[in-house]
Amino acid sequence: MQHKFEFEYEELADINLLSTEDKELLEAAQKATQNAYAPYSNFLVGAAARLSNNSIAIGANQESASFPVGVCAERALLNSVGSQFPDLSITTMAISYQPIGKDANEPISPCGMCRQSLLDFENRYGAPIKIILSGMKGRVMVLKTASYLLPFGFDGAILK
Ligand code: THU
Repeated sequence: MQHKFEFEYEELADINLLSTEDKELLEAAQKATQNAYAPYSNFLVGAAARLSNNSIAIGANQESASFPVGVCAERALLNSVGSQFPDLSITTMAISYQPIGKDANEPISPCGMCRQSLLDFENRYGAPIKIILSGMKGRVMVLKTASYLLPFGFDGAILK
């Protein structure tokens, strides 16, 4: 039997077409790029999460002199929220970036490791995480759940 996987996402021409709440979150992600420590790649990534109590938490990539030790903005944020606010789930995450000396007009999308961490977080709280992707300007992509980004992802439920 053949199967097909497809998903829908929304594309908006710019940040002003988001709801007030989501615009605030994307702006927080854009601002969080300033907290990146990225002296090796010069690629500053910021992420912002809306928590279930409506507060906003932020994360930024933190690189290491031993390159593989560095952590992406998304996992810095997930690990920080999971550690500091274990009783709160994440309803939405916005991700943006600023490469030093270059424009950021196009959205970026999380790496494979971060997709797994996002899926882990969704499974842990049993709640979808809406994903908002955009640069510093230009189009914005909105996905209803992070799980769309990792079809056939490993679900830890099988370990139980
Ligand atoms: N990076 C992130 O923080 N998030 C992404 O979605 C893609 C990549 C970071 C890792 C590294 O510090 C730099 O961007 C260049 O890959």
